[in-house]
Amino acid sequence: MRNVEELESYLASPSQALIADLRSCSGDILILGAGGKMGPSLAKLAKAAVDEGRLNKKVIAVSRFSTDGLRQELEQWGVETVAADLLDKDQVEALPDAANVIFMVGHKFGTTGREYFTWAMNTHVPSLVASRYRGSRIAVFSSGNVYPFVPVYSGGAVEETPPEPVGEYAQSCLGRERIFQYYSHQFGTEMVHLRLNYAIDLRYGVLVDLANQVKHGRPIDLSTGHVNCIWQGDANEYALRSLRLCLPQGGRVLNMTGPETVSIRWLGHVFAERFGTEPLFEGEESAHCLLNNAAKIHQELGYPKIPLGQMIDWTAQWIAQGGPLLGKPTHFQERKGQF
Ligand SMILES: NC(=O)c1ccc[n+]([C@@H]2O[C@H](COP(=O)([O-])OP(=O)(O)OC[C@H]3O[C@@H](n4cnc5c(N)ncnc54)[C@H](OP(=O)(O)O)[C@@H]3O)[C@@H](O)[C@H]2O)c1
Repeated sequence: MRNVEELESYLASPSQALIADLRSCSGDILILGAGGKMGPSLAKLAKAAVDEGRLNKKVIAVSRFSTDGLRQELEQWGVETVAADLLDKDQVEALPDAANVIFMVGHKFGTTGREYFTWAMNTHVPSLVASRYRGSRIAVFSSGNVYPFVPVYSGGAVEETPPEPVGEYAQSCLGRERIFQYYSHQFGTEMVHLRLNYAIDLRYGVLVDLANQVKHGRPIDLSTGHVNCIWQGDANEYALRSLRLCLPQGGRVLNMTGPETVSIRWLGHVFAERFGTEPLFEGEESAHCLLNNAAKIHQELGYPKIPLGQMIDWTAQWIAQGGPLLGKPTHFQERKGQF
């Protein structure tokens, strides 16, 4: 993975399973909040699957497009774009119809002190969207943050684990699910709630955060000593493929992450070895962490394509060669839910 072009093109390589699943979901695909960390690659992946499978569908990306050049870049890939502020009811109402909707809008960082805005983004926007697209299938990005911290030996929270979100961001994520569920019960809307824990790309994510700390000789806080992560391309595939798993009556809940409970201490040692240095640690591993068990989605849609070892190799190489980064740390170490 030598540069952004190679990375982007890899992230946009659809599996045959994705093409088959999208074939079974008739109608266009509309991606809301497509301008963030994951949306552009998800939109390109969907478009590549549509083209490769000769599917009769449009892929439409909706966002404010505050990142320079992104709108043009997506258009060049053949993705249609609509600039809209989803906080505005009239703009939501004016969006094009689509049988398949991927909901990726969310707000996390900057919650503390502006809690009202996070709640508007994570519950008011869902209400406008769920009302507008009550007749569509909707795959809703949620977060593993809706769960309580669980023992690190537990294998992670399962879908049946009662939610116990810590802090207002996590509470608003549960609010997002509840609002969508309300519309699903009210109008029979078919949906799936994808509780994601840490997608990673080479430009951001838990592995990038840790590799950077090791490379620059900064100590790693061990208090959140265990995490889950998943390659962004695999998370995007799951999200698109989960359209065919949508159900009415509140929808289906699926955890979405990799199969491992990953040790932060172990990752520190692995990256240190790659960079020919020694890792610095501070604190001790807590007995409880935010961990998800994604066995159900693996059973439904197969294991992720990219194993952890590959993600580590690519990340170490990317950081060593000074590859571009988004500069968006995950703050996965946060234990009080304050973002
Ligand atoms: N990445 C992860 O590891 C992770 C983990 C757990 C959960 N999730 C959830 O998964 C979803 C996708 O993740 P992500 O990392 O791609 O999120 P993200 O980087 O926050 O992207 C969301 C995008 O939505 C767009 N948006 C924000 N406000 C908008 C508005 N008022 N109207 C229209 N568009 C708006 C923004 O792009 P514009 O500036 O172009 O509008 C923003 O970049 C999010 O809901 C996130 O909460 C992600």
